[in-house]
Amino acid sequence: MCAILTLCISSLSAQEISIIPLPAKMEPKSGVFTLGNKAKIYIAEKTGEFEKVFKRWESKFENSTEVELQQTKNDKKAAIAIIQNPKLKAEAYHLSINVEGIRIEASDAAGLYYALLSLEQLSCVEILTGINAEHWDRTFPCVEIEDAPRFSWRGFMLDEGRHFYGKEEIKKIIDAMARYKMNRFHWHLTEDQGWRIEIKKYPKLTEVGAWRESKVLAYGEVKPDGKRYGGFYTQEDIKEVVAYAKERFIEIVPEIDIPGHSQAAVASYPEFLACDPENKHEVWLWQGVSADVINVANPKAVQFAKDIIDELTELFPFGYIHLGGDECPVNKWKNNKECQELLQQIGSTNYRDLQIHFYKQLKDHIAQKPKDKQRKLIFWNEVLHGNTKPLGEDITIMAWIGADQAALHAAKQGMNTILTPQIPYYINRRQSKLETEPRSQGWGTETVEAVYNYIPMKGADTSTLQSKYLGVQANFWTEWVEEASIVQYLMFPRLAAVAEAGWTPQEKRKYDDFLRRLQAESEYYRLKGLNYGKHVIQ
Ligand code: ACM
Repeated sequence: MCAILTLCISSLSAQEISIIPLPAKMEPKSGVFTLGNKAKIYIAEKTGEFEKVFKRWESKFENSTEVELQQTKNDKKAAIAIIQNPKLKAEAYHLSINVEGIRIEASDAAGLYYALLSLEQLSCVEILTGINAEHWDRTFPCVEIEDAPRFSWRGFMLDEGRHFYGKEEIKKIIDAMARYKMNRFHWHLTEDQGWRIEIKKYPKLTEVGAWRESKVLAYGEVKPDGKRYGGFYTQEDIKEVVAYAKERFIEIVPEIDIPGHSQAAVASYPEFLACDPENKHEVWLWQGVSADVINVANPKAVQFAKDIIDELTELFPFGYIHLGGDECPVNKWKNNKECQELLQQIGSTNYRDLQIHFYKQLKDHIAQKPKDKQRKLIFWNEVLHGNTKPLGEDITIMAWIGADQAALHAAKQGMNTILTPQIPYYINRRQSKLETEPRSQGWGTETVEAVYNYIPMKGADTSTLQSKYLGVQANFWTEWVEEASIVQYLMFPRLAAVAEAGWTPQEKRKYDDFLRRLQAESEYYRLKGLNYGKHVIQ
């Protein structure tokens, strides 16, 4: 309570401004602007998304503060003036506060959304979380901010194949991402251990593939617990979450990881997905990489993948679909007659080429769709290795293993790339060596500081390759994480560190300053009911 009172009663001094991610340019000024009970507000653009963003903010702000906002036609008389300025870059905004009032210029609706988020961070954490801010003194510190993101892709991936958390948990994550001005949620929806999205044409994917006979995933000493466990999203759930994210300027990228990491799908339709349909197939109870991959030489398996892409296209309007491509053992293909024959047909002796051949057919399928239904494909960086028949330049590489080199290699070949280095951006890994750290992967070396200090594009020539690097993304794998509260514990506050790498110019990023600003986050997490790693927050 004390912390809230200090934050809300006194105006913030320059040193106390704690915006995360740090704006590209910020100059604190002396003095404060105080908002009256009834404040005049001028908004120049009264149509479309821009106005919708304002309206949503207005009702949240009024509810939280009991300030009544009254529209005026005269920007000179306004306490808050909002102007659309198409000369600014996408997502950019200027926020200027002096003792007379607040002026926002934003390039587009996203820019306005981000300007209002920064404005909320300058006021009071209750406003940010949308609850009653009765202790707020209605002041804003005077400041000049010129802000725009460093990268267009500021992502977070959650694996729900291994464990399933449900849409209310996803919405909490989306809220936190939005608060950090992140804009891509990569939803890893299928795994060896579970298929989590309803596909109308293949109902067994969720009747069979969404369920397994253990909640924990066995590894070493840990054995299956025999409890029936699972869950999935209906197509209605998916639409609801996509719309929820869209209001927060977050686009959702679905990932269907095929043909590897697909044992749950194989268990659902072994008759055409398995390389050995005569054997028993079940949703996997173990951690690791299953050898039970899709038979890419079966035309029905190819059709299956095309049908899934068709349904995904209808559910996810964003321009990207992720098809996985990581860790796909080829042993089953080597022992399968159809695969042996197909390999000969395509003129190769390298079984990895079958995976690329499979993807090519899916890419061609997408290319035949009308323009608004076309989607770009994203793959993990393994698709650049070990094969002799490349997939072409028009794919995006998500670089995780040997990420810096893989991304550079992709960019130099003309592909777009996203940096998601396993070390240190897999934020499911233990974030400290403390005894209290939950069971997860790693040795506690992916600390908040290590995550913060990763330098995107290190060693890449920014003058020629900048446009190829779409941005950065934190990934969260859930083999060890059964509960949503542990997901939260491990992802916060490290998500904020990744968000800042995606937004703030590298030369402005200093860990000590980030750590100072991070202290204010505990109140945000508390009010939102989010668990977080507490060791770096006093
Ligand atoms: C991955 O970590 N297998 C993408």
